[in-house]
Amino acid sequence: MVELLSAQQINKSFSGVHVLRDVQFSLRAGEVHALLGENGAGKSTLLKTLFGIYKPDSGTLSVNGQSVTLSSPGDAQAQGIAMIHQELALIPELTVAQNVLLGNEGREVLNYARMEARVQPFLDQVGLMVAPGTPVKRLTIAQQQMVEIARAVARQARIIIMDEPTSSLTTHEIEQLYQVVRELTARGVGIIYVSHHFDEIEALADRVTVLRDGAYIGTVNQRDVTQEQLVNMMVGRNLVTQTGDHNRQVGEVRLDVQELSRTGAFQDITFRVHAGEVVTLAGLIGAGRTEVLRAIYGADPFTQGKIQLDGQRITRPTPATMMRLGVGFIAEDRRHQGIVPDAKVSVNMMLTSWAKGKVGVREGEMRQRVEEQIQQLGIRPANANQIIRRLSGGNQQKVILGRWLSAGCQLLLIDEPTRGIDVASKADIYALIDDLAQQGVAILMVSSELPEVLRLSDRILVMREGHLVGELTRAEASEERILGLATGAQTDANYSAVV
Ligand SMILES: Nc1ncnc2c1ncn2[C@@H]1O[C@H](COP(=O)(O)OP(=O)(O)OP(=O)(O)O)[C@@H](O)[C@H]1O
Ligand SMILES: [Mg+2]
Repeated sequence: MVELLSAQQINKSFSGVHVLRDVQFSLRAGEVHALLGENGAGKSTLLKTLFGIYKPDSGTLSVNGQSVTLSSPGDAQAQGIAMIHQELALIPELTVAQNVLLGNEGREVLNYARMEARVQPFLDQVGLMVAPGTPVKRLTIAQQQMVEIARAVARQARIIIMDEPTSSLTTHEIEQLYQVVRELTARGVGIIYVSHHFDEIEALADRVTVLRDGAYIGTVNQRDVTQEQLVNMMVGRNLVTQTGDHNRQVGEVRLDVQELSRTGAFQDITFRVHAGEVVTLAGLIGAGRTEVLRAIYGADPFTQGKIQLDGQRITRPTPATMMRLGVGFIAEDRRHQGIVPDAKVSVNMMLTSWAKGKVGVREGEMRQRVEEQIQQLGIRPANANQIIRRLSGGNQQKVILGRWLSAGCQLLLIDEPTRGIDVASKADIYALIDDLAQQGVAILMVSSELPEVLRLSDRILVMREGHLVGELTRAEASEERILGLATGAQTDANYSAVV
């Protein structure tokens, strides 16, 4: 069988750091080949060399059995390779049709009607139900991603690279992506797929290649291996799944939210979080969970209701006042909302402490705190002076987490604590959250990963369509019950009055 793509003995270093070491990778027509590895293992770097963004220091690459050199993404596209970027690469002001045909418009560039007619079949193929004349800036992230895929299809790409494509998609949208992936592979397209989610790999992948610390560990048939075996290949040891410690003593009420509403987003939200307690807002994406978190922090206004912190009413919270009162907020979209890309890891990590007015933190103390977080969170490379932009996506996430964890908050609001984080580091982050609760920090989090919700929470509040529809203690909770409440298949007796 001729392989669509084959990479052999690929090496790549950045300023002396050997990031890919003799890596091999191949792709067959019609397969989904997943690339797996811890944060910083070299996945994105490998993909970027396959797409002509980075030039490997050594190694060979062939497409359809022909040896090639890719000096730019243009070269890669000419070889039938497309990449769906995580930071989407569309032009927001242009229409769907213009974006799909970008760089490929031919003579139709000025004839909108004809362009749109030409693009329609591609939109149908990826199941995107928007008019081709719609400006891209009006689309959701998922729709924009579909536009990128439609563009790859329009260019007749035979090889499509997807780097963590599901990280901002809802469950329903993920299903839709699966369907498109299956249709593409049925037509002989080969797909390279990176994800930290084993359920996605199980649902889609034919083969899996594992990288560890830039080295090639092996390639296996997905059906022949268990998740444990894959994890072992990734981290080089077995991970022990720890259950949380839930004999925690909770203290006084720290956060008291009463009948909080914001028109169009959420209504009548009432709950409390105690010192030393982990409370999770569960529910489907779009249920209003992030909006509640943002309103409590003052990142967005609310229209009605009452927020009290340690018994004190906060009439109009703003991020600055909340921060001063000891409230931390770790946003969902950390890469965009949190990073100073050209600053060092240490600076990115100390920003909050500085903003809180602790400018006087002595340099030695600061260095010690940064080192502690680097160790605790397993940030790699473990170098406080590295420019954060040069860290892998997952490691950037860990720096932002570290920023808040070291800032000494009394109440921590965390949206999706482990998005983009690998399995091994997840365990570290869970242990840290347990620790904080143990020290009396109140934690209110939003998470879409049910095993994570069950692992961390003392109490679970389920939201649906802007309303609180149920509350489960840890003992009562199960994935089925949470999902039942989140989808409306089941109602909770305590809340039937509200629903
Ligand atoms: N431009 C660069 N300069 C220096 N080092 C870099 C650069 N780009 C990546 N690296 C380093 O290369 C290593 C691999 O990074 P890469 O982004 O490929 O990881 P990844 O497997 O995609 O991780 P994640 O799961 O976190 O996305 C990391 O240690 C990273 O710090
Ligand atoms: Mg990456």
